Amino acid sequence: MGEIRGVLALFACEMDCLQGGGLLMTAPTVSTAQEQAIQLASAALALRALEPEARLAIATGRATFLGRLPVGQLMDRLPTLMDEQVAGTIRIDETTQRLLPSRFVVGGAVDKPILLDEDDVTHFERPRRAGGRENFFFGRERDVALLHSVLKEIVHEKTAASVLILGRSGLGKSRLLREFVASIHGAAPPVVLGCGSLLRNERLYPALAPVLRSAGIDIQDKSSVQIETAFAAWLAGRCAGQGLLLVIEDLQWADSPSLDMVDRILHILRDKPVMAVGVGREDVDDKFPGLWGWCAVQRMRLRPLPNKYGTRLLRHWLPTISRKVEESLLDRWEGNPRFLEELAAAAPSEQLRIPDSIYATVEGRLEGLEPDVRRVLRAASLFGEKAFTTDALIALLGDAARKCIAEWMEILIMRDFIVRDVNLGEATYAVHERLVADATYRMLTGPDRVLARRLARAWLNSAGRTLPEYLNSMFSQSERRSATGG
Ligand SMILES: Nc1ncnc2c1ncn2[C@@H]1O[C@H](COP(=O)(O)OP(=O)(O)O)[C@@H](O)[C@H]1O
Ligand SMILES: [Mg+2]
Repeated sequence: MGEIRGVLALFACEMDCLQGGGLLMTAPTVSTAQEQAIQLASAALALRALEPEARLAIATGRATFLGRLPVGQLMDRLPTLMDEQVAGTIRIDETTQRLLPSRFVVGGAVDKPILLDEDDVTHFERPRRAGGRENFFFGRERDVALLHSVLKEIVHEKTAASVLILGRSGLGKSRLLREFVASIHGAAPPVVLGCGSLLRNERLYPALAPVLRSAGIDIQDKSSVQIETAFAAWLAGRCAGQGLLLVIEDLQWADSPSLDMVDRILHILRDKPVMAVGVGREDVDDKFPGLWGWCAVQRMRLRPLPNKYGTRLLRHWLPTISRKVEESLLDRWEGNPRFLEELAAAAPSEQLRIPDSIYATVEGRLEGLEPDVRRVLRAASLFGEKAFTTDALIALLGDAARKCIAEWMEILIMRDFIVRDVNLGEATYAVHERLVADATYRMLTGPDRVLARRLARAWLNSAGRTLPEYLNSMFSQSERRSATGG
């Protein structure tokens, strides 16, 4: 048992013994849903190595906690998931499968996926299977051109340079990099790949350890300077006339010692054609301010893809899709191709269904807000995509909110959750993305919804406005009745 706890600790997971002899692992609730899925999947694989006959299952969902133990739907699902399970397998539910990056190898029947393995991270990620077909690549010509221009420059000038590709999860950062490498004419430069990791199972330089290993550099009992020098020499040896790409994926999970080492190596190799490319989520800037700053770092922020590409992708995947469903999907994909793939996979042409994996990702964004500010966003979500005023929010939040509402709104605007429209004489606001409104609304409990809808309706009546028909498109009849019925 102590051994199991030891393994779980490496993956920051916790363990509880259940009645009936089972064990329950939980991932830390401070992580995002994707981070939790990764932690649990890696922990499950490590546990299976320890206990080859164990039956393991991973489910993802919202849960209420009773003390330390989650209760409710999520827990009820686990036994069903393990029904008829073969010893030594790791069953995962659909949401977990969709959240896991493609380096996790999944097999088994379509409706009973099992987790098989985790690939080494010294190769580019394989294309994901879920919903997507890796054929089209749209709307990133300028980004690809920029990467080519940096590569050209380092080769011509024989100098090191770095690029950061930043953007929300699923926006296409990894794909952009792959497409760039594939589009290099002539002999492609060698690619050396490191990867940020949530897990601290490598004690030294977790992001670079696999690369250092494959370079034959022993990091035990060596000083950091010795390691650095050996790595720089190895990289220099691989720098051919066509340059060398040193890529660090998932920067947001990388460790500072690894990133500092890359920084110093770029300095050592400043006269060599080395292009360091860091790929990560937008919070990289908060976590590692001034990253690789000494050598003029190019910062690329990936924009959402325009709707016209979404239309083309959708019509290719779902040729018989109805106009209505197409519109509601394009209303919610946020220009994010991963979201679109998942929406398309979950919407067999006639009905809109938003998969839990998307909600989990959006909810993860909300978790980063302070509780007060999140409460304001919750209230705002009742208006769906419709405009509202701060008075409307105060009607929902109570008069005590009046003092701070301006400040809270500023935070929400700054973080891109809410947009302000000042054209109409009075300032009005709206939730920026439809998915955020949907996800926030979904996080309200039933009684909260009823009360809040009643207050919203009262305010709208008093202000002489009509009740937004927000619930129409999203929620079931019964839910709508209970929410609007007052
Ligand atoms: N420009 C694009 N055109 C079409 N599909 C794309 C594009 N960019 C990404 N995709 C697809 O969207 C999914 C998510 O892309 P990925 O590169 O994994 O995102 P990220 O690395 O930003 O999380 C992948 O299946 C990818 O093939
Ligand atoms: Mg990626």
